[in-house]
Amino acid sequence: MTTPRDSWTQRHPELGTGPVSFEDSISPEFYRLECDAIFKRAWLNVGRVEELPKDGSYFTKEIPPAKASVIVTRGTDGRTRAFHNVCRHRGNKLVWDGTPRDEARGIARQLVCKYHGWRYGLDGGCRYVHQEDQFFDLDKTRLGLVPVHCDTWAGFVFVNLAPTPPQSLREYLGSMVGALESYPFHEMTECYAFRAENRSNWKIFMDAFQEYYHVPPLHTQQLGPGRLQNPEAEFEAAHYQTDGPHRMVTSSSPAKHEIPSKYLYPSEVLFRSGNLGPWDAPDVARDVPGVNPGRADHWAIDNFQIFPNLEILIYERGWYLAYRYWPTSHDTHVFEGYLSFVPARTARERAAREYAAVLFKEYALQDAGTLDGTQMGLEARACAEFPLSDQEILVRHFHKSVGDWVDAYRRERDTRTPDGGAL
Ligand code: FES
Ligand SMILES: [Fe+2]
Repeated sequence: MTTPRDSWTQRHPELGTGPVSFEDSISPEFYRLECDAIFKRAWLNVGRVEELPKDGSYFTKEIPPAKASVIVTRGTDGRTRAFHNVCRHRGNKLVWDGTPRDEARGIARQLVCKYHGWRYGLDGGCRYVHQEDQFFDLDKTRLGLVPVHCDTWAGFVFVNLAPTPPQSLREYLGSMVGALESYPFHEMTECYAFRAENRSNWKIFMDAFQEYYHVPPLHTQQLGPGRLQNPEAEFEAAHYQTDGPHRMVTSSSPAKHEIPSKYLYPSEVLFRSGNLGPWDAPDVARDVPGVNPGRADHWAIDNFQIFPNLEILIYERGWYLAYRYWPTSHDTHVFEGYLSFVPARTARERAAREYAAVLFKEYALQDAGTLDGTQMGLEARACAEFPLSDQEILVRHFHKSVGDWVDAYRRERDTRTPDGGAL
C-alpha cells in the first residue's frame, strides 16, 4: 500500500482518493443526460473575435451535443450577436457551405435562405419574404432569427443555449479563469488550426491533456535525445488549482538555452523551436495577472480547462493553444486545436512557428492514438473502477464536475411538475 506525501488530491476532500468509474464515458444513456445537463446549459466557446474582422462578418458553429447550429454575426453597429441557424419560414438550415453539415464563414449584408429566398439582416431581423402577399397575416417583425445568448471574454466568443442562463459569462468563468482577462490573446493572431474526428468519448481525450503522468512513457521522444529519453522518468506538474467546475495545471521546464545541445534534437537547434514553442519568444506575456498562479519556478505552461470543453494553454514563450472537444455521440467526438502566435516578422520566425505546429500535431497524434484503445478497454466492462494517482487529480475533478452537473439536472427534472413548474 502506498500513499503520496503532501498530496494535491488530499487537499480536496470532496474529490476523495478512491478508484473512479468511467461509466460516464461509455454509457449512451449518460451521454444523453450530459447533452441536456451540460451542453444545453453551459457557456460554450464557439470562436474568437478575430474571426469577425469587419462589420458584416459572420461564422457558423455546429454544436452536435445540443443538435444545434449557431450563426455568430458582427452587425453594421459592430455588435456581436448569435442566433440559431434556422430559417423562420420552414426551418431550413440558413447558412452553410458545401453541405448543410459544413460550417461557413464570410462577410455579407444579408443572410439568404437557399430554399425559398427569405433574407435576414445581421441583427437577425427578417428583411425580405419572397412573394410576401401570398402569406396570411404575416408579420415580418415577428419572424427574426431566434437569438442565442452570446458574450465575449478576452476575445473568446461564447454562447449559451439555455433560455435563461443562471449566470452571466463572467460569473460562470469565476475568478481563476477570469483573472486572465488582460492576457494579450488579441496580439496572437497567427493561427494554425487542426481538426480531428476521434473514436472515443470526448472526456477520454480531455483526460489525456489534464495530466502529465503519461508523458515519459507515451511521448518519450518529447523528452529529447540521449539520457533524457527515459520512459521511466518521473514527471510531476508544479501546481494544480480548481475553481468551481474549472481547473488548471502548471508545468515547469528548464529553459532550452540551459540544456546542453547534445540533449536537443538537431532540428530544434536549427529552427530554434520545439514542443514548448519558438525559443525566441516575444516579450508579451510575462507578469500578466492570472498566469502562473502557483508562482512555480521555471514556469513553462499553464493549462486552463474551462468547463465543459475548452482548454487554453498559455506558454511562457509568448503564445497559446486552445482546444475544443465537441461530442458527436457517446463514443465519438470532434477535436479542434488552435496554435496562436504573435505574427512572425521574418522567415526564421515563421519557420520556428511552423516547426512548433508540426511537433504539436505529432504529439497530439500520439495522444489520439490511445483513444480507441481506452474506449474499447472501458467498454469491455472488465473493470468497474480504476485507480488515479495524485498527478491525475484533474481527471478526478473533471469527471466529478460532469457528474455534479448531470445530478443537478436530474434533480431539477425529477422535481418538475407535468406543467413545467417546480413541485
Ligand atoms: S425555409 Fe427558408 S425560405 Fe423557406
Ligand atoms: Fe499527451
